[in-house]
Amino acid sequence: MNFYEHLKSYLNDEQIDKLKASLSEENKHGVLVNTKKMSDEMFLSLFPHVEKHPIVKHAYIFDKREYELGKSIYHALGCFYIQEPSAMVPAYLLNAQEGDIVLDLCAAPGGKTIQTSLLMNDSGLIVANDLSKSRAFSIIENEERLGLGNIIVTNNDFSKIYKNYLSTFDKIILDAPCSGSGMFRKEDKMMQDWSYNKVLKFAEIQKELILYAYEMLKPGGTMCYSTCSFSLEEDEDVIEYLLEKTDAEIVKSDHQLFFRKDNNPLGFHLLPSLFPGEGHYICLIRKPGVFIKAPNSKTNKTGKYGFQFEYKFGNYLFGNNVSFNTKHLNIVRLGVKIGEIFNNDIKYDYHYAHYIQKFSKKYELNDAQVKTYFTGNVLNVPIDKGTYLLTYKGISVDITKSDGRMIKNSLPKGLRTK
Ligand SMILES: C[S@@+](CC[C@H](N)C(=O)[O-])C[C@H]1O[C@@H](n2cnc3c(N)ncnc32)[C@H](O)[C@@H]1O
Repeated sequence: MNFYEHLKSYLNDEQIDKLKASLSEENKHGVLVNTKKMSDEMFLSLFPHVEKHPIVKHAYIFDKREYELGKSIYHALGCFYIQEPSAMVPAYLLNAQEGDIVLDLCAAPGGKTIQTSLLMNDSGLIVANDLSKSRAFSIIENEERLGLGNIIVTNNDFSKIYKNYLSTFDKIILDAPCSGSGMFRKEDKMMQDWSYNKVLKFAEIQKELILYAYEMLKPGGTMCYSTCSFSLEEDEDVIEYLLEKTDAEIVKSDHQLFFRKDNNPLGFHLLPSLFPGEGHYICLIRKPGVFIKAPNSKTNKTGKYGFQFEYKFGNYLFGNNVSFNTKHLNIVRLGVKIGEIFNNDIKYDYHYAHYIQKFSKKYELNDAQVKTYFTGNVLNVPIDKGTYLLTYKGISVDITKSDGRMIKNSLPKGLRTK
């Protein structure tokens, strides 16, 4: 069956023609402001010609020919995250609250985790998991740069361990692997590789994932199921399967920009013909029952580095603020990497530099110095000996030492520009 043919199960000819036309237009680019580091006002003063995202707060749509945001110094400083505009909607609608315990089951490269962490004001906890180890590492790169502290990155096959986490999470994000028709405009290869068999194969995986994800949801908790596929088989059919097998309920939403099959409430599609993005399917699901939120484990008692819990793995020190049963998890990153301990001293990590807002000694870099620092060179600046949080326009750059004559360069090698 060809791609447009199979859409006839829920779209009429006119809707398919509109979708077809929209798929030959240019793709849309979105950006989410990291409000922990930069205000919307500052972002808009730097990039005034962006368009407000129609739904998501602190998010904008931009023209890549006008702004190369990925190459901006402010991107390197973690002031924003580039994310496709429709991919921003699921986590926004899930609306995690401060203190929630969240599972992002298929999280890499981490867009929805980052958004959720910002919505939660860096409180509570997100277990950001991905089956692929290399992809799980891409979550770390992003959380470090954005300076987020409430994330445990894991690399697990939850089908093997979900029984240890039954009714555990307040919110679950299941952004399932899919056949990827919502990527057609981004990558020609996705269109060439599309087949109906692929759709059916992913539908099997999605049905398995949604059942055990649901088992891990707390009574009264909410799960967001999403795909970037336009296929009913991977979208509404998966939800129907969940409703057949469990007591799940659908959370209704009546947004104008969304397309619903026959006005059927089983979730909605962000079709590129209706919405300025590449396309997504979203369904919010609730587990019946009384929602009891875990007591806030935050006390005034914090350790030397500002965390309630500190963990040492080898010489490395990590910190977070929520205790969680990690016994069954393959941990890739536990909270914030504070630094490396040696000779009773600590070499602070880049992650910690971006996480903390306050530090006893700060040194503000000028335009030329920040450029030099990003090339990996030392800064010949005679300042008092000691450890400094380097900032640029008040935004953290790194933590490093001065020997009185020059400032050492501690930037991770992979982040240095040529
Ligand atoms: C659509 S992408 C997720 C995008 C991500 N949610 C974001 O917003 O940046 C799907 C991810 O699922 C992962 N994956 C595939 N099968 C999985 C499984 N059984 N358990 C966990 N992750 C899985 C893939 O490695 C891939 O990174």
